[in-house]
Amino acid sequence: MLKRPVLAANWKMHLGPVAAGEFMRSFLERYKPRPDRTVIFFPPAVSLASMTAMVRAAGRTDVLFGVQNIHWAEKGAFTGETSAEMAKEAGAGIILVGHSERRHVFGETDAQCAKKCLAAARVGLPFLLCVGEKMAQREAGETAAVVTRQLREGVAQVPNLISAEFLIAYEPVWAIGTGLTATPVDASAIHTLLRSELGAMIGTRAAEIPILYGGSVGPGNAATLLAANEIDGLLVGGSSLDVTTWIKIAES
Ligand code: 13P
Repeated sequence: MLKRPVLAANWKMHLGPVAAGEFMRSFLERYKPRPDRTVIFFPPAVSLASMTAMVRAAGRTDVLFGVQNIHWAEKGAFTGETSAEMAKEAGAGIILVGHSERRHVFGETDAQCAKKCLAAARVGLPFLLCVGEKMAQREAGETAAVVTRQLREGVAQVPNLISAEFLIAYEPVWAIGTGLTATPVDASAIHTLLRSELGAMIGTRAAEIPILYGGSVGPGNAATLLAANEIDGLLVGGSSLDVTTWIKIAES
């Protein structure tokens, strides 16, 4: 089970192998292992293998790496895609599924997210399923319906969900990269709703599933968000790209 809080950096399409290596060298020097939290990086897939090799060489087991996306098939004629098996071989220990940019820029559906969560489970890796409403959905009062549908449909195909290892991230689409953040109270309310949905699916095990918040998190609001009820960690985009800023957040 992952230690909480879980501090996760989603680099999106930033930091190729050279820049990622420089970041990691500096990070490993300045961030000392802490037993009271989990730190995860989701670099671009092309940067993954060199980063995991660097961390292994440094003897650091406290940092976990993941991929930002996978295809659900094991292999095949799917140009440009990466399978869960390949991600695992390159050192991924976790798979991000259904990030809002995958859903809203690339048109990923709940059904596809479900196949990706299943693929992660097939190779024995935990998945981090992202859910979140768009601004128009929020204004129409649809937030609860949207996030519960994304959660239910996303995990629908995972066998033995009750014993599967997974995490959820609540990332309101309107808060991503905009400087707007859900208030800790608003975020807590959605996290509580997601926990209760999980409870209906997997009973008391729901308490063990980390639910992360993401959307314009930075060093100025990380600690307040982490202190809020039911927020077990953070998924950070822009503010994870600078090593000094990211260390401040990872030490929140
Ligand atoms: P920002 O932190 O840049 O708003 O991005 C959030 C996000 O999408 C993390 O997955």
